[in-house]
Amino acid sequence: MAIIRSRIRGTGHSVPDRVLTNLDLEKMVDTSDEWITTRTGIKERHIASSDEYLSLFCVRAARQAMEMAGVEGKDIDLIIIGTVTPDQPIPATACFVQAELGASNAAVFDLSAGCSGFLYALTIADKFIKTGSARHALVIGAEVLSKFTDWNDRSTCVLFADGAGAVVLSAEAGENGILSSAIHADGTMADFIYLPGGGSKIPVSHEMIDKNLHTIKMRGNETFKIAVRSLEAVCREAIRGASLTARDVRWFIPHQANTRIIKAVGSRLGWPPESIYLNIDRMGNTSSASIPIALDEIIRSGKVKEGDILLLAAFGAGLTWGSALVRW
Ligand code: ACO
Repeated sequence: MAIIRSRIRGTGHSVPDRVLTNLDLEKMVDTSDEWITTRTGIKERHIASSDEYLSLFCVRAARQAMEMAGVEGKDIDLIIIGTVTPDQPIPATACFVQAELGASNAAVFDLSAGCSGFLYALTIADKFIKTGSARHALVIGAEVLSKFTDWNDRSTCVLFADGAGAVVLSAEAGENGILSSAIHADGTMADFIYLPGGGSKIPVSHEMIDKNLHTIKMRGNETFKIAVRSLEAVCREAIRGASLTARDVRWFIPHQANTRIIKAVGSRLGWPPESIYLNIDRMGNTSSASIPIALDEIIRSGKVKEGDILLLAAFGAGLTWGSALVRW
């Protein structure tokens, strides 16, 4: 009997129209285009306006992915949104997205795994499909990080950006689809990237806001070193899981947090620069949205051919990290 795999049948993405450049940031905090470009690779990013929120971008990205896949709302059995910036704490943003898409047959939930959220969601959806619990799953990675950013903190505000990416996974017999994936976490490093206030530990209060506990904090330099090591290991794990070698990977589509991290991982795995997809210069760090946005861009560019091996990998708050190997 042929193996049932999760095939990515559709991709889509949506970002805010508003663009914030490094030159704009030079006027807001003590930074420079030169510092941001050389340290991160970012030149500009898309930032939501005050009346835009997460589910708007999710729905737009999802509609594109569903159109490409040729599925309608009622065909979808599962919706998972990887996000740390939901529309509101209750209910899950996935409920709003379900209602907009008319996906009345779907089980839906949000998932919090920092920048690895999309790969956590993809891995879970893949298990649903392989076990026969879902035929079509909508997996979204989306963030509106700008609303949780301290715009006076130059060490973080130059990094983060907004947007959503979506894929439709469908059950198919054959050799193409998700071949392997791996997800990990180490909560002993929870204080590397965190947002302390607004939960049950430090509830919303004037004092909490006065102490600036409602914005993201990051120990960037320490995170950087662990990111390179963990990404390399988790890439190798997914490759091994599919009994392939690093040379079989045609496209590396990493989380876009920092060009230097991505290049360091690429060189450790021996991949030529032209096989590494980068859009961080235009998109910044959109956290869990970055991989599905990049995937949609490269798919729509026509560069990926049927049978190509794609490796997706991410690292983020938690700390969490993960990877997925896909035969297109
Ligand atoms: N402009 C100018 N100078 C700055 C800026 C800025 N925007 N930000 C920091 N600096 C200064 C610092 O104050 C420091 O100055 P000092 O030497 O006088 O103290 C100097 O630049 C160096 O700072 P570092 O933090 O050591 O710089 P680094 O080279 O590590 O780059 C960065 C910082 C870009 C954040 C990098 O560490 C990084 O990318 N880390 C990994 C981030 C990541 O992968 N996060 C996971 C995903 S995010 C998520 O999950 C939401």
